[in-house]
Amino acid sequence: MRSDRAAPGESLIDRVGPHLLSPFEGDQEAAWIEVIRKMDEVYADLLRYETDLEEKNTALEEAQAFISSVIESVSDILIVCDRNGIVLQVNPAAVRLLGTPADAVVEQSLGELVDPADRVRIEELLRASSSSEIALEIRFVTARGLSDLYAVNGATRCDPAGARVGTVLTGRPIGELRRAYEALHTAHGELQRAQRQLVEQEKMASLGRLVAGVAHELNNPISFIYGNIHTLERYRERMATYLKAIHHGADPAEIETLRRELKIDALLADYASLIEGTLEGAMRVSDVVKNLRRLSFPRSGETQPIDVDRIVRTAARWAARAKPGHVELTFDIAPEVAIVGNEGQFHQIIVNLVDNAIDAVRGQTEPRIDISAQRHGDEVVIAVADNGPGLADGLIDKIFEPFFTTKPVGEGTGLGLWISYGIAREHGGTLAAGNKPGGGALFTLTLAAA
Ligand SMILES: Nc1ncnc2c1ncn2[C@@H]1O[C@H](COP(=O)(O)OP(=O)(O)OP(=O)(O)O)[C@@H](O)[C@H]1O
Ligand SMILES: [Mg+2]
Repeated sequence: MRSDRAAPGESLIDRVGPHLLSPFEGDQEAAWIEVIRKMDEVYADLLRYETDLEEKNTALEEAQAFISSVIESVSDILIVCDRNGIVLQVNPAAVRLLGTPADAVVEQSLGELVDPADRVRIEELLRASSSSEIALEIRFVTARGLSDLYAVNGATRCDPAGARVGTVLTGRPIGELRRAYEALHTAHGELQRAQRQLVEQEKMASLGRLVAGVAHELNNPISFIYGNIHTLERYRERMATYLKAIHHGADPAEIETLRRELKIDALLADYASLIEGTLEGAMRVSDVVKNLRRLSFPRSGETQPIDVDRIVRTAARWAARAKPGHVELTFDIAPEVAIVGNEGQFHQIIVNLVDNAIDAVRGQTEPRIDISAQRHGDEVVIAVADNGPGLADGLIDKIFEPFFTTKPVGEGTGLGLWISYGIAREHGGTLAAGNKPGGGALFTLTLAAA
């Protein structure tokens, strides 16, 4: 580089003056000046070329500095190899990883830098002729022993003519990522287990509600069977006394007195209704047991035609009996409406809906739940409506989410509607929530008609 250069546009003649250059006069001097001018032109061209060259050199230096700074700031490791897998260049991240100065790495074979167990795969990557990227997970041999697992990509390096001259490897550690992934996976598994457990608990809770309902349902017929049997026992004793007198040949007046005292006529008149009542009680017990048997043994996936009327009434009654306080239940069920599905699961949806409705109407002066079932075309629409406060704005989107509850701890798990929604979907139906125009919540279960 020159520092005593002419200023741009300054000629040789301008710099030294023609009188100093010319030793001639006249024509000779004119020729001499012409020569000088030609030299001047050549000199100017030279200067221009030199300036151009310097500018290009500066640009080149800047480009090189830029590329170096980029390579140095890349946190991924970068290893450039020739086509035989000999390392030509590594970036500072690779130097840091290997724990060896760049000079010591360059000229080594890439295979020497990786875990012997990964050598075959890295050699395959180096041999791969396509320019498409190849990804591997390997470990490097470092000054401190084997490295963490690295995700390495290999890309074919080509010369300007497009011929393959080697491979560029980039890699980043995935050990941390993998550990985080594994922790996440474990946490997910635990969450799923906890969720299953909660679903089981919810099932146990509904079973508890069911058992309480059943106990209540059985209590009534059993108590009047019990009462009737006591009465029958008393009647038997009176009849025995009366018959004994007859068999021992008591005189008609004595028999007549006994007949009045022991109220034999009233007793005989009462027998029929007593027996009828006892029989009815026994039949109600047997019905409850039959319903229970049907519910306790639902083989999963088993479907059968379901008499909507019977199940809806039983489920609603049982749900209502399991909770304290009186709620007026009304039914408007079209005759002979049937669906096909799992009876126990269908029962569970109704119990859950009525259960929620009972909680919602608590505190109303005239708590009331209206249940209807109608057939619309190929579908059966079952509606459970209450006169509670209804569903607040923004709640409708949330109530079907698992664990969403507005009830105090211990009173609700927030799984009832989620489970019911799942059952409805498994049956190819839907469960929707909304509010009645006059207030109060309205849940609509739609299932295919049998
Ligand atoms: N009939 C209703 N009226 C007003 N809000 C209701 C009604 N039914 C459900 N909800 C709201 O939806 C929430 C979720 O109901 P869901 O049955 O899923 O759970 P839960 O009743 O809170 O608890 P769980 O049923 O598991 O015992 C309830 O906490 C309540 O806020
Ligand atoms: Mg509930």
